[in-house]
Amino acid sequence: MRDLRHPRTPIGFAQAQGAGGLRVELILGQVLHFAADPFAEGPAAALVETRGGVLVDGTRIAAIGPAAALRAAHPAARVTDMGSALLSAGFVDAHAHYPQTGIIASWGKRLIDWLNSYTFPEEMRFGDPAHAAAVAARYLDLVLAHGTTTVASFCTSHPESVDALFAAAEARGMRIAAGKTCMDRNAPPGLCDTAERAHDESAALIARWHGRGRLVYAITPRFAPTSTPEQLDALGTLWADHPTCLMQTHLSEQTEELDWVRALYPEARDYLDVYERAGLLGPGALFGHCIHLTGRERMRLREAGAALIHCPTSNAFIGSGLFDMAGLIAEGQRVGLATDTGGGSSFSMLRTMAAAYEIGQLRGRALHPAELWWLATAGGARAMGMAERIGNLAPGMEADLIALDLASTPAIAQRSARAGTFWEAVFPTIMMGDDRAIAGVWVNGQRQRPAEAPRG
Ligand code: GUN
Ligand code: ZN
Repeated sequence: MRDLRHPRTPIGFAQAQGAGGLRVELILGQVLHFAADPFAEGPAAALVETRGGVLVDGTRIAAIGPAAALRAAHPAARVTDMGSALLSAGFVDAHAHYPQTGIIASWGKRLIDWLNSYTFPEEMRFGDPAHAAAVAARYLDLVLAHGTTTVASFCTSHPESVDALFAAAEARGMRIAAGKTCMDRNAPPGLCDTAERAHDESAALIARWHGRGRLVYAITPRFAPTSTPEQLDALGTLWADHPTCLMQTHLSEQTEELDWVRALYPEARDYLDVYERAGLLGPGALFGHCIHLTGRERMRLREAGAALIHCPTSNAFIGSGLFDMAGLIAEGQRVGLATDTGGGSSFSMLRTMAAAYEIGQLRGRALHPAELWWLATAGGARAMGMAERIGNLAPGMEADLIALDLASTPAIAQRSARAGTFWEAVFPTIMMGDDRAIAGVWVNGQRQRPAEAPRG
């Protein structure tokens, strides 16, 4: 097998011809990619080609390697020279709520009051297709501007809100997962469906969107307290009928929520058991938060191969608690990273990595920048079952990539200027960077032009 750690010649197709006349673009910069999971293999699993290039042929990555060798091998390719910018796979945000774009940074409440005071009134507005379309477009333009090319997003209970997000993603060529957020109790009547409607409306949305282009449907019960057991059962049946869909929900976020789940489901062994009994535990399940887990829950999550999605800015902002990254990784859990917009306080996966670092410090484990970057790219892609397609730069993968300026503000520039190593140059951008660091974004091989500043 070829040694991927020291590519002397470009890895990939011998000659990128531009199949079918599609454009071939050679993007030059510092190329960061992963040969393995750095949590398992150490930081050396991250590979850097200091003066490197990514050859994009249509919608796919055709080759990566040293810039000079790629230029020589592909003289006809259009060259986009990003200078010393870092070239990486686009960020993967594995848990977000696009309808909460307008209420991000709402003050002073813990989870249940926050839902009732801010979230539910805002989500009521998404029965209006024009409102849903406007927010979906604004949200996707914001995340792209922050270097995020894939999200797993909750919508609202209105099917119109799902149509709006998938249509906006399709227009931008993005690979996303999303689904109708199902609730049939403990929420305003205007947001509640029933077990049957949740099933039937989700099924109709699956038929319309799942597997269309780059779109993936995620069956989406909001969380145990806002569903009856009948609704969870109906969604478990739906998942069994459509096993290639993802399933996303919340698990064990805040202690008051845990007490509430115990009261609502006295027969369940624990919170996870509520979902497991309904058939909502499996390899395609994405559980947001996962903070206050029992030993049994951890064992079952691992056995099932489910994904645990760490939402560090949200967990700090809503006051939920400290995710046990080191312990969960050590026992072999699959972990993804997410903003949880708008319970989370940012659209930026850089800011999210910084918060994950800080929470790691509070728990006594300093996450290496290579681990943080992997979580924000390949780890998220693995959690979403998309690791073969996105989340890394490698020949054959879909061309979702970003270029980052590692000196995007004076504060960052003065720190990265004295860096002695690659990761020392990157870490200030992780800790202090935002959308100003994003110098270029390619989605499915297409360079994105910055959208107009969001209005209104
Ligand atoms: N639990 C149930 N719904 C939500 C939500 O919208 N955000 C967060 N952070 N937690 C939830
Ligand atoms: Zn959430």
